[in-house]
Amino acid sequence: MYLRQMETGDLGVLLDMAHVEEWSSDILEFELYHKLNPGGCFTSIADKKVVGGIMTFTYPNSGWIGNLIVNKKYRLKGFGKALFCRGLRHLSSLPTIFLCASPMAVGLYSQFGFRKVSNINRWEHRGMTLDLPEGNGNPELVLAMDSKYWHEDRSLMLSRMLTNRSYVFNEGAWLGFKQVDDHWTIGPWEANDKDSALDLIKVAVVDGNKQRILVDVPAQNTRAWDILTVMGFEVVGKTVLMCRGLLPDIAFGNIYGLASMGSKG
Ligand SMILES: CC(C)(COP(=O)(O)OP(=O)(O)OC[C@H]1O[C@@H](n2cnc3c(N)ncnc32)[C@H](O)[C@@H]1OP(=O)(O)O)[C@@H](O)C(=O)NCCC(=O)NCCS
Repeated sequence: MYLRQMETGDLGVLLDMAHVEEWSSDILEFELYHKLNPGGCFTSIADKKVVGGIMTFTYPNSGWIGNLIVNKKYRLKGFGKALFCRGLRHLSSLPTIFLCASPMAVGLYSQFGFRKVSNINRWEHRGMTLDLPEGNGNPELVLAMDSKYWHEDRSLMLSRMLTNRSYVFNEGAWLGFKQVDDHWTIGPWEANDKDSALDLIKVAVVDGNKQRILVDVPAQNTRAWDILTVMGFEVVGKTVLMCRGLLPDIAFGNIYGLASMGSKG
């Protein structure tokens, strides 16, 4: 087994593994993160084929580790840990490193000094769809709100992400969404107050094709809990946001939905 830098040709194989795990991921997301940080994405090779991978991403003051996956047939042989150590080494100069852990991986990350910051609930709605009302975007508003609540400049990632995602906004909130294969994902979704957040989701989620809608939400945002319950969403899964190093003062009460399903905050 050996590790090498991830190549564009690896992405399809890794995406197939992600789909086996029922991750809400598509090739556009994998390509985006790979293009943004090609030197920080690694692949493990065994029997002359791709058997695992990991992606890292850096903001000015923090890094994220995401999309760690190993082919089922090659698990429990040390590949996951080797990939994780490589990703961690790549981010070692940053004061803070985040990740969202699946329950099976919490033990692995704890060994490396990661501690729990928050549970992240995955909410699902069946039977509605998302609709983009006509109007212009407002990138300044959404980037300013994001930076205020995450205490981080995420504009590079967000501005690229918004090229293949729709969003709606009002004076006090914004909400992004995207179709991924057979379902929709909501995020980022950020708001100054509950009413603004509620108004926006009511505008975006409409009757229509009966489709699945997913959103990942920090558990301590109780206002989001209220809104999603009223709208008929249900919690269908949980991951754990973990951090190593300095924890910035993230305003979880204003973060109603993460930007990506699990991997980059
Ligand atoms: C999590 C995953 C990457 C681990 O890969 P792996 O190659 O099997 O991991 P390793 O063999 O390097 O094991 C590393 C450690 O994790 C532990 N571990 C691995 N799978 C585990 C499981 N299902 N439950 C509990 N512990 C587990 C191992 O026992 C080992 O512990 P040790 O260091 O104390 O010996 C792999 O199971 C996977 O791809 N899972 C599905 C996707 C996923 O959940 N990714 C993580 C996203 S946060």
